[in-house]
Amino acid sequence: MHITIAEDVAQEYLADVADILGDKDFLRLSLYTHHQWTNRLMHSVNVSYLSWLIAGRLGCDRRSAARAGLLHDFCLYDFADGTPTGEHQAFYHPKAAAETSQRHFTVSDKERDAILSHMFPLGPVPNSREAWIISMADKLCATVEVCRIPIALSRRNRVMVA
Ligand SMILES: [Fe+2]
Ligand SMILES: [Fe+2]
Repeated sequence: MHITIAEDVAQEYLADVADILGDKDFLRLSLYTHHQWTNRLMHSVNVSYLSWLIAGRLGCDRRSAARAGLLHDFCLYDFADGTPTGEHQAFYHPKAAAETSQRHFTVSDKERDAILSHMFPLGPVPNSREAWIISMADKLCATVEVCRIPIALSRRNRVMVA
């Protein structure tokens, strides 16, 4: 599995997330269909990049926004599967994503909390500005992706995985 990133993608962004995008397990997210027309990797990249842009504009911690945005759905299973706890997937998958992320990468408390609260109001209230940005970016990307409209880094195929 190989990721191709266009040269016009901000190097500052790539520097913030390079270790994650270089991880072979993380790239396996591309195997899971997400929001009907895309895959979970592209969705995660879109949420991450949009969060990074917004956080930068608002003077927030854009590195944390980019990393937690990228990891917010880091679950290597099909969301159609049941959950081991019997919880609805909407409540369960943020916890699974936080656990998988911590097993693979160094994740700060702020990043972990943002991953856990990204489904708000289904689940905990975001407790940082970066967590709010990720929760909003996730909903925006999901809505646009369901409408089959390219957003963020899926526009002009700026990121592709094969
Ligand atoms: Fe999610
Ligand atoms: Fe998501």
